[in-house]
Amino acid sequence: MSSGPEEIAQAIARLKAGGVVAFPTETVYGLGADAFNEDAVAKVFALKGRPATNPLIVHVSGSSMARRVAADWPARADRLARSFWPGPLSLVVPKAPDLPSIVTAGLPAVALRSPLHPLTLALIDAADTPIVGPSANRSGHVSPTTAEHVRREFDGGDVLVLDGGPCQGGIESTVVSLLSPTPRVLRLGLVTPEQIAHCLGRIVDIGPAPADEAPVPSPGQLPTHYAPHAPARLVAREAVPALLAERSADAIVVVDTRSHPGVRTVVLPAEAREYAAGLYAALRRADDMNPGLIAIVAPERKNRDGALWDAIVDRLARATAPRP
Ligand code: TXA
Ligand code: MG
Repeated sequence: MSSGPEEIAQAIARLKAGGVVAFPTETVYGLGADAFNEDAVAKVFALKGRPATNPLIVHVSGSSMARRVAADWPARADRLARSFWPGPLSLVVPKAPDLPSIVTAGLPAVALRSPLHPLTLALIDAADTPIVGPSANRSGHVSPTTAEHVRREFDGGDVLVLDGGPCQGGIESTVVSLLSPTPRVLRLGLVTPEQIAHCLGRIVDIGPAPADEAPVPSPGQLPTHYAPHAPARLVAREAVPALLAERSADAIVVVDTRSHPGVRTVVLPAEAREYAAGLYAALRRADDMNPGLIAIVAPERKNRDGALWDAIVDRLARATAPRP
């Protein structure tokens, strides 16, 4: 059931009182608190079990609120915001001095985005304050794409969950740094590097910032991330029969765009957008079956939507990376 005006009013009161509110966006659900309230932001870190070294994205209603959080709002930021906001693009710009440094993990820059969801835009507007919003999952776990995912993630925690239905995008926003002359895509997402380059009329770099540019090379881009609880492996479709021969089929759940005879399979659509939208729910469904191994079949990547497949494969690689 989607939240209505009453729940939004409660959420606003929560934010104003320094509490935590989970909110829907077009990408994944976020765990929100007033960005200018240091204690409230600390609660978000604590609830997630998030390392203090990993900065949070700040959600704003648009460019004018962004200017309250940024020390400098360059023309390039304005141009990108005009093209892609509200939408799945986070812009890294110098932070305003009065934004608590806990938000940016001590970094001099802040990531800002305006989310494309009417409930959340209404929330930010009415609360009249920017809100931090890391994905509403425990640190390292799969991001939530429904309100129910969030409730399960923080069962017993003091989190008010606004329900805006399932997220349409399904993977996290593209993060682009505007700190150096050449924009740099730090995290792949639904807005592609080509779209950014086209909008700005210049090439963009992709990947972690070089060490001389950033104190933390690529905060938050930990190798293991977005991971289910069960061990997960990225495999070729042809390798599935051998896996089944190696272990009992009961111990395995396969995630693929096709079903496999004789083994439990969570089937995802073959088109990139639909695959992305369903991916995290599929990983959670696979996890719920309590397998000894989740075998994710590397998607076929049709010729179209190459950049979106890159973003998807980035998430799959992290979900299946060796755990510390
Ligand atoms: O789609 C999204 O971006 C979702 C929804 C809720 O908006 N949020 C999200 O937040 O994915 P989180 O905290 O799970 O991921 C934030 C990413 C991390 O990789 C973090 O390191 C990076 O953005 N980031 C945040 N602030 C940054 C900064 N000042 N400089 C560089 N990277 C930053
Ligand atoms: Mg996250």
